[in-house]
Amino acid sequence: MRDLGVYAEVRASETPAEELSGARGLIISGGPSSVYDAGSPTVDPAIFSSGQAVLGICYGQQIMAHLLGGEVRRGEKGEYGMATLQLDETSDPMFAGLSGHQQIWMSHRDLVGRVPDGFSIVGRTDTCPVAAIADSARRLYGVQFHPEVVHTSRGLEYLANFVLRVCGCVPDWDPRHRVPLIEQEIRDCVGGRKVFFFVSGGVDSSVAFALATRALGADRVRGVYVDTGLMREGETEFVRRLGGLSVEHAENEFLSVLAGVTEPERKRHIIGEEFVLVQERVIEREGLMGHDWMLGQGTIYPDTIESGGTAKAALIKTHHNRVAGIQKLIASGRIVEPLRSFYKDEVRQVGRELGLPAELLDRHPFPGPGLAIRCLCAASDAEVEASPEGYVIPVRSVGVQGDARSYAPVLAIDTLDTSRATELTNRLTSVNRVIAPVEMRAPWKEVRVRACSLTADRLARLRQADAVARRLSHESGYDSQIWQFPVILIPLGTADAPDSVVLRPVDSVDGMTAQSVLMEEGLLRKMSREILEIPGVSAVFYDLTHKPPGTIEWE
Ligand code: XMP
Repeated sequence: MRDLGVYAEVRASETPAEELSGARGLIISGGPSSVYDAGSPTVDPAIFSSGQAVLGICYGQQIMAHLLGGEVRRGEKGEYGMATLQLDETSDPMFAGLSGHQQIWMSHRDLVGRVPDGFSIVGRTDTCPVAAIADSARRLYGVQFHPEVVHTSRGLEYLANFVLRVCGCVPDWDPRHRVPLIEQEIRDCVGGRKVFFFVSGGVDSSVAFALATRALGADRVRGVYVDTGLMREGETEFVRRLGGLSVEHAENEFLSVLAGVTEPERKRHIIGEEFVLVQERVIEREGLMGHDWMLGQGTIYPDTIESGGTAKAALIKTHHNRVAGIQKLIASGRIVEPLRSFYKDEVRQVGRELGLPAELLDRHPFPGPGLAIRCLCAASDAEVEASPEGYVIPVRSVGVQGDARSYAPVLAIDTLDTSRATELTNRLTSVNRVIAPVEMRAPWKEVRVRACSLTADRLARLRQADAVARRLSHESGYDSQIWQFPVILIPLGTADAPDSVVLRPVDSVDGMTAQSVLMEEGLLRKMSREILEIPGVSAVFYDLTHKPPGTIEWE
């Protein structure tokens, strides 16, 4: 909706009708439930008599039909994938200009069997007799297919018809116009106080910090960047160039608490704890708990939506913000979150409006725990095992099976073939990741997993490999074609070159799912050759795993 220029918010489906009364229209989204499942999502039926226009999509159409006296039939197998819709000619603005045959995307099990009184059926497919319904008098609509996915060829036109023609909204939402309003909001919220931020160098916290600085003046805003020593090459210099920030050095502390630790979850935990200690130290030393201070944060809209896939994002972000002092500030409302109603692409637009450099705004995401979760460790030496499909490397890497993160070994196959990798991860539940060598300096029989932990040497090795990959993908323009490009160090190699590097470029929209993407052969060869020149690196691999089953990061 916002891409169409219309302001929209996501609300829990059970939100009472009176809380939604300010909206010109409501969309009930799809979901995997059946209206007959105990505890399945529902809506307040009063929304259907409020006079507001309502569009139900997929499950949204079913719950609408169910609550208004129609009948929903339980599907046996369901229908998933492409289908052809036949849409009738109607005079209803919802379907204006859309009649005829068209490709749509279906993903449902149950079906509407009988429409409620007042509704007519306007669209159908060979397998789904009730694919689009309308009650023009009450402005209630339903579609069984998904207009919001790209595979529905004219999907955007359905959504535009609903918000512009049916609801009568004007496409006037432009995040760039909001800048003066956000600045005023910051001034109103902060009053005579001052604001401090922990800035990570990522897009959200940097844009929030820049907004507050513009709204309040540099003398009333403090930004602190914690150098954990787990950052990429040039990161601290990059953050310094953003201006107005002070750097809190904690490199040695992080290295010493991580010494000898090999277990991935422990690493994450220790980093989180250490971050808290450093933040507490800064808050204490600078007197930031005083009543004249507030905490500023780069929270964005998806972080605040509790339902669906974004719950995890929220969890990841809160991780670093669990400092007791910060909790106290949140509890007492001394917190400013100027970007809390914006999506990521909107934050970038706001940043451009503020004149922030593209180099910052177009950055790929980078995880808070930094290179530590890209530098795999091993508690003991272990042999690679030959299997009919390839070589099983006994490092443990994270995957998503169901909704949980799980750790399993990695399988190496001999060709850069993502389809084969998908077939293998589907078939072999014992591995959740498949890689292929780009180049190896020693044959398989001479390499093994070697016991190691996080040391300054290994971090430096990874930092160097990452810098090569980043430089070459930037120079070639490859970085603008992909969503993120982690580079991982695994303890696989020979005695004098004990590590290997894995390249993990992925495409994604929001990080919740991702596709492994190949890169052009010439670029790959060049990257691999340069990385192999780094002392201690024995081989370069390519990660062929989509998410799911593999996660984007390896730990
Ligand atoms: P996964 O590995 O779960 O990553 O597929 C999805 C996205 O989240 C990022 N990520 C993190 N970001 N702190 C962060 O700030 C973390 O602990 C963390 N772990 C994963 C990851 O880089 C990817 O963009």
